[in-house]
Order: sequence, then C-alpha cells, then structure tokens
Amino acid sequence: MSKSNKLQVEAIKNGTVIDHIPANAGFKILKLFALDSTEHRVTIGLNLPSSAQNTKDIIKIENVFVTKKQADQIALYAPQATVNTIIDYEVTDKYALKLPEEIFGMFKCANTNCITNYEPTTTTHFKVLPTKQGKVQLKCHYCEKVFNQEIMKEV
Ligand code: CTP
Ligand code: ZN
Repeated sequence: MSKSNKLQVEAIKNGTVIDHIPANAGFKILKLFALDSTEHRVTIGLNLPSSAQNTKDIIKIENVFVTKKQADQIALYAPQATVNTIIDYEVTDKYALKLPEEIFGMFKCANTNCITNYEPTTTTHFKVLPTKQGKVQLKCHYCEKVFNQEIMKEV
C-alpha cells in the first residue's frame, strides 16, 4: 500500500499521535484529556480501517507531548494503543501503554457514601490492583473500598 493510501488522517509536524485505539474508545480518551475544550489543534479519525483490529480510532494532538504517566491513564480503555511522539514529521518515540498504578478522574466511586460522590468537585483517585486473570480491581483513595473495574461507571 502506498504511503498516501496508508496515511488516513493528515500527518502532523510536532505533537502526539495516539494510534490503535479500539473503535469507540476514542471519545472516552478525548474526554479524559479534556480535548473537547483544548485550544490545541486536534484531529480525530473514528472507525478507520485497521489491519490489526477491524476498525480503530486515532487522535492527533499538535504541539502537545504527553508524559508516559499521562499516557498510561488510557490503558484501561485502550490497552493496545500506542502513543507516538512526532518531532519535525518523524516518529521519535513509540510507547506501548502499561497499566497505570493510579487513576485520576476517570471512574466514579461505587460507594454512594464516598466523599467523592457528595463533593463532586473532588477528583476521583483509585489505586490499580492487578489480579491474576488480567482483571483489574480499583481501590478508592478516599474511602479505601475495592471494586472490580468492570462495574465502575465513568465520571
Ligand atoms: N503520524 C502522523 N504524523 C507524522 C508521522 C506519523 O500523524 N508526521 C502518524 C501515522 O499516521 C501513524 C502514527 O503516527 O498513525 C505512527 O506512525 P508510524 O510509526 O510511521 O506508523 P506505523 O508504522 O503504521 O505504526 P505502527 O507500527 O504503530 O502501526
Ligand atoms: Zn470512594
């Protein structure tokens, strides 16, 4: 396939490309990074054809460089995503996500009595407890209760 056929969304000069996002996780990542209210130029491709998966989402943020710690926040939504650093049109770093140790502002605490639920300005904060079968449990930093990640609702 020629380069021009392959490049499905315009190349960027400098910034971050989050690639291989499972289709429909793109919106969650936009929200997580508050990219719906940023001044930076963001290009989004949704449901693009992909060889590795059937379809994928892609997000390109110009002139923004995310840290590995920030990138890892999206590992629960998009474990196969890669975060590419682009400098002067070249990919200078390709980072495969790791499960983060902590998660901020992504999920609501499932304990209705938790302070984060009656003081909604508090950013939720969970410790990630990986378990053997690849399942993840989250421990609330505030109320210290532990929940299976699968039952957690998004903020
Ligand atoms: N990209 C971009 N602007 C550039 C260079 C690359 O938007 N100046 C994008 C590409 O379109 C691709 C991602 O950054 O979505 C990674 O680029 P590259 O490593 O060249 O692509 P692949 O080899 O297809 O990556 P992978 O092996 O991760 O699939
Ligand atoms: Zn809690």
